[in-house]
This record gives sequence, C-alpha cells and structure tokens, in this order.
Amino acid sequence: MANIWKPSLQQYVADLFKREQFTSFLDIGCGYGKDLKYFKEQFKSIPNCRFVGIDKLERAISSACENYSRDGLEFYTMDAADGLNFSEESFDIVYSMNVMECIKDKLKHIEEIYRVLKPGGQAVCCHCDWDSVIYNGENKEHIREILNKYSNWKQPWMDDADSWMGRRLWGVFNSIKIFSGEVRIFNIIETDFSERSKGWDMVKEIGYMVQAGVITKDEYDNFVCDIETASRSGEYLHVRPIYIYSGVKI
Ligand SMILES: C[S@@+](CC[C@H](N)C(=O)[O-])C[C@H]1O[C@@H](n2cnc3c(N)ncnc32)[C@H](O)[C@@H]1O
Repeated sequence: MANIWKPSLQQYVADLFKREQFTSFLDIGCGYGKDLKYFKEQFKSIPNCRFVGIDKLERAISSACENYSRDGLEFYTMDAADGLNFSEESFDIVYSMNVMECIKDKLKHIEEIYRVLKPGGQAVCCHCDWDSVIYNGENKEHIREILNKYSNWKQPWMDDADSWMGRRLWGVFNSIKIFSGEVRIFNIIETDFSERSKGWDMVKEIGYMVQAGVITKDEYDNFVCDIETASRSGEYLHVRPIYIYSGVKI
C-alpha cells in the first residue's frame, strides 16, 4: 500500500512510553482491544506486565475478551465518566485514544487518571482534531460541509462531542497543573483510497450519518463520488492530525 504515514501511529505512541517504570498499563475506551493487543506484543519482553482495557460498550468488551483474554489481557466494562473503578496508584501508564471528547466532565476524568497512576506514572492521551481532518476533492464547499457535519455529530454512544478535542488536549491537562507534560502531533497522511486505509474507514463512518438522518443519501453519494474521482485521477489526499498529550504525574 502506498500510504506514507509510517511509522504507524501505534508505534509512534509506543515509543513515547517510559519503559523502565512500566509494569501496569490501562487503556481507557479500549474499544475492541486492538491497541492493547499491539502494546502487549510490543512490550512482551517486560515480565509480568499487566495490560488492562476498559470500555463502556459491552459488545466491544465481550469481543475483546473473546479475542485477546487468552493472551493475558484483562478487559472490563466500565463507564469512565463515573470514575475509574481501580484503587489509587494502580498503573504506570494510562492511555486513551479518541475517548476524551465523549466524557463531559473532563477535569474530573483527568483527576481520576491522576488518582489511578502510580507516583511518576505517565498519562498518554491521544485525540484526533476532527475539525482539522482533510480530504482533497473537487467540490470544496460540499466536502467542507460533510466533514463539518461529521465532526459535530454526537453519536448515540457518546455523552459529549467536541470536534476541537485534539487542540484542546493540552489546555485541559495543563489547566489543572497535576501533570508535567508536552503535546505532539502525529499526522496520518494517505494518498491511497484503499480498503485498509483510515480515509476509507472514515468515509464508511460518514455513511452512517445517512441512517442517522444527519445527511441525505444524495449528499453522501456526491461526497463519495468526489473522493473516488480524486482517487482515480491521482489527486486523492487524506490527512488526519492526532494530538498526543504525554504527561508525568507530579
Ligand atoms: C472512537 S472509539 C476509540 C476506540 C479505541 N480507543 C480506538 O482508538 O480504536 C471511542 C471508544 O470510547 C468508548 N467510550 C466512550 N465513552 C466512554 C466512557 N464514558 N467510558 C468508557 N468508554 C467510553 C466507546 O465505547 C468507544 O469504544
């Protein structure tokens, strides 16, 4: 595949972890558990390292358990907005990807992350800035409108939505001064519109807005047609910036 976003996002994030202190890892909003499985593989040389994933979606946790429990990963159904049901100082690393926007009380959530982290533990919180996602195509206004509707779409499983969550990550963590951190951006840049690409996944997700009544089928078809035309003519480009806050508990 001709995608040019190498090394992968997961690898980029894995390289940020402070390995020497790392014997327990929590993934908040782990979904179907793919990231956790990846990190477990990456760090298999660390003995007795605990990898725990939580998500409020029961079907995601059932699937994660079915696929990965035998690999020693732990999964629990839990709503992080109600607090993290772990005792204090349980984890060396707390990680999340594209979850923070769904949680209404973000400061309370960050305090919970702080509470369950061991002294000197690390929070690695990643979030796409949905308002900065781009697709190239012919009809600028239409693409803009569809992407705008997608970034503002609060899906049924979300308690909150914020299309600026990526750029706000730094601010929400930094405002309460309980972590010493920094912010980075990983850009996913794709020139290939193919089934295994992020751009393809997102076009599929945008399609769910038709069923939800947010856009019409015609609007969606026109959008897809524009993207496919760009792909055929060699002009396709999809860029998705992932903001990454990495902070140490102080
Ligand atoms: C966009 S998905 C990201 C999944 C996974 N982190 C990934 O990157 O593939 C967001 C996930 O967060 C979960 N989620 C949303 N709000 C949550 C909450 N309050 N507590 C726990 N999980 C939540 C959703 O169920 C969903 O699996």
